[in-house]
This record gives sequence, structure tokens and C-alpha cells, in this order.
Amino acid sequence: MFPSELLSFLRTAERVAVLTGAGVSAESGVPTFRDAQTGLWASYDPAQLATPDAFRRNPALVWDWYAYRRALIAAARPNPAHYALAEMEALFPDFSLITQNIDALHRAAGSRAIIELHGNIRRVKCAECGKTASAWDDSREKPPRCEHCGGLLRPDVVWFGESLPPDALQRAMEAAERAQVFFSIGTSAVVEPAASLPRMARRKGALLVEINPEATPITPLADYALRGKAGEILPALLEAMTRRQSLRK
Ligand code: OAD
Repeated sequence: MFPSELLSFLRTAERVAVLTGAGVSAESGVPTFRDAQTGLWASYDPAQLATPDAFRRNPALVWDWYAYRRALIAAARPNPAHYALAEMEALFPDFSLITQNIDALHRAAGSRAIIELHGNIRRVKCAECGKTASAWDDSREKPPRCEHCGGLLRPDVVWFGESLPPDALQRAMEAAERAQVFFSIGTSAVVEPAASLPRMARRKGALLVEINPEATPITPLADYALRGKAGEILPALLEAMTRRQSLRK
């Protein structure tokens, strides 16, 4: 199922970086950004809700939308793609898992070398003083207020038009630049600056592997474009990588 040169390259590689997007969580039942919104939120466009302006205009609506998505995510479990990536981490001395996802499913699956580019829906932060918290009480007031300064709490995620956490972006760029193999998995590769990471890795000589049922703007750059679902391809790739190694002993 996999080209032998890809498997042999993976067997000798030491520095691997992975970029994941919403497609990796699709098989956990978490809708991707390009999936139509359903139910109560069908008439809302995520791009109109996930913005600082929307929060200024209607903080309670934005807070409720994230509460809805947090409930969707709370019901979700990691899928075989998440577990395969957690296992892959142990195979390489220098492995970085750069994710655009805010659903914390990589950590739930056991990954540790995670760089959260777009934040984490399970954390909130004060819109005024920036202090973060992992617990809050929104039974009285929505959004609740910061216990330090009284400012409104908001999800600790990157909104459209906001800059990414500088340290996370710096670490992601460094990982992309030193990678020998760069995987772009389950991302439409259109939102910057994350979408530049595969290009950056390729420019520095990394082997670029894309896993996605559909083509994306970086498909033409990929050395290997593996067409299909991450939850099917990643476990098979991991098995092929480790099977060949055991055969050689
Ligand atoms: P998108 O919804 O833009 O793209 C999801 C990608 O996953 C698409 O290319 C699908 O073809 C692919 N896909 C769907 N099912 C898949 C599966 N089972 N296995 C593998 N791939 C699958 O989501 P992202 O690329 O993550 O930013 O979007 C990037 C950013 O856009 C998000 O982080 C968010 C949004 O604006 C912020 O919120 C700042």
C-alpha cells in the first residue's frame, strides 16, 4: 500500500514534524470548518462568530457557540488517527505534532510533543488581562468574569484576524525547518500562517507527505499525496513502518 522508498526513508529519519487540521478529528465526529454547521447554529458562519468583533458585539452569543462546540468535543473520543500519531511520536528522536485543532484530542490519545497553534477550547482567558483558566463558573453570567480583573472571559483560541501565540508559532517554524519528513494531515492548507509550514519544510529539503481524501493547494508540492482518511491511512502506515523493521531483525 505504501511506496517502499517512503517506508525506508521513514525508517532512517530522525526529525519528523506533523501538521494536523480538523480532518484528523472528523472521524471522531467533530465537524470540520468546511462542514456545514447544523441545528441551532446552521444559520451562523463560523467565520462570523470566531472573531474579536463578534465577541465585542455579542459576547454571550460567542460564549454560547463555544459552549456548544465544547459539548460536541466533550462527546468525542480520539480516533485511530490520533492514536497512530501518539504511537508515531515514540519512533523518532525528534518528533513535533503541530496542530491547528483546538479539541485537545491529540493529548487525550497520548501525544505529548504537541504545539497548539490555534489554542485550546478547554481553556479560557480574560479578554482584558489575558490570564488563562481551565475552570470557570458560567451559571450566573455568560460570559463569566475574570476573578483577577473582572474582565470578560473568552475561549483561549485564536480568532480570525488574531495573531497566533508567538512561542507556539516559533516552535512550529523551527520544527518545520529542521524536519526530514513533514506530514500535512487533514488540513485544507489555506489558513495562514499554518499553511506555510509545509512549504517551509519542503524548501528546507524535507520529504513532504500529505494525507487527505481531497486535493489541497499543497498537493502539487507533496512528494507523496496519500488519498484517503487519516483514521485508515495512519494506522496502516504505522503498521507498515514497524512491520518492516521487525522483519529485518
Ligand atoms: P478545514 O475544515 O479547512 O479542512 C479540513 C480538511 O480535512 C479538508 O481538506 C478535508 O478534505 C480533510 N478531511 C476531511 N475528512 C478527513 C479525514 N477523515 N481524514 C483526513 N482528512 C480529512 O480545517 P482546517 O484545515 O483545520 O482556524 O482549518 C484550518 C483553520 O481554519 C482552523 O484551525 C480554523 C479555521 O479558520 C482558526 O480557528 C483560527
